[in-house]
Amino acid sequence: MVEVLRFEAATVVRGGRPILDRVDWVVADHERWVVLGPNGAGKTTLLQLAGALLHPTGGRVEVLGERLGAVDVFDLRPRIGVASAALAERIPADERVRDVVVTAAWAVTGRWREQYDDTDVARADAVLAMVGADGLAERQFGTLSEGERKRVQIARALMTDPELLLLDEPAAGLDLGAREDLVTRLAAIAADRWAPAQVLVTHHVEEIPSGFTHVLLLRDGRVVAAGPIGEVLTGRTLTAAFGTRLRAGHIRGRYWARAVPPSQELRGRHARPVPAPSTDPGEGLAEPPHVVP
Ligand SMILES: Nc1ncnc2c1ncn2[C@@H]1O[C@H](COP(=O)(O)OP(=O)(O)OP(=O)(O)O)[C@@H](O)[C@H]1O
Ligand SMILES: [Mg+2]
Repeated sequence: MVEVLRFEAATVVRGGRPILDRVDWVVADHERWVVLGPNGAGKTTLLQLAGALLHPTGGRVEVLGERLGAVDVFDLRPRIGVASAALAERIPADERVRDVVVTAAWAVTGRWREQYDDTDVARADAVLAMVGADGLAERQFGTLSEGERKRVQIARALMTDPELLLLDEPAAGLDLGAREDLVTRLAAIAADRWAPAQVLVTHHVEEIPSGFTHVLLLRDGRVVAAGPIGEVLTGRTLTAAFGTRLRAGHIRGRYWARAVPPSQELRGRHARPVPAPSTDPGEGLAEPPHVVP
């Protein structure tokens, strides 16, 4: 097993308070992690550490075997593919889509004087095709829809054939069809044994592509639970992370989560048996959903 990330008591302090608090976390090269947690839990901060975009205030962070603080991050960053809202904001609106992707080879946004060879352009077109955005290569980034922008960002993140792929809320703002299309494409990338280790941040368990292997749940900068997704992603751990009584399950590799209706909560307190939820999203399907308490 090759470790791509190792966090030991990783801490980030901002404004005098820890926004990441003694996080221990190890990611191996064949793993696909989802990071879940409420707004402000520290998910983006965690991803910034993983992307060598931020140094920890305390503890130790190793990225691709290199310790942050003891390595030139400019050597490290081209080995990591990142797609995030912060990065998308830095892309000039008039940038041609193919250039948005190809400039990742230089870890820059905005094409300037760099010379790209035919291999770079061919690679850019190949990764655009991989995310279903090959028809967009000649368009200006600013003219794309939200869903199209997300795909282009992921293509950019894949451009350098990274050893680690970091996606911060890749499905945020997408309509149902665009979300499902993206989640299906991410599942295909996750299933590719040559694809890099992946960490995907989201608020919604419905956005977890099938094939993701591990989950880390954060709340107030602390790890609530972490480990193999089949063991760790339960109603109990989601309740602890989000502070709302939740029930969770999965249907053919896709997850769902719902609030426990107050009537069932009451029954639970009085230790009476809880009937199967009538609003079950698996109802009507041939295969009943696996419910995790
Ligand atoms: N530079 C800063 N100074 C002070 N507080 C900060 C700073 N950067 C982040 N924070 C705070 O740290 C906390 C964690 O932020 P972070 O962006 O990592 O959360 P998140 O889990 O990604 O949230 P969201 O789901 O809303 O994207 C938030 O409360 C945020 O306000
Ligand atoms: Mg965030």
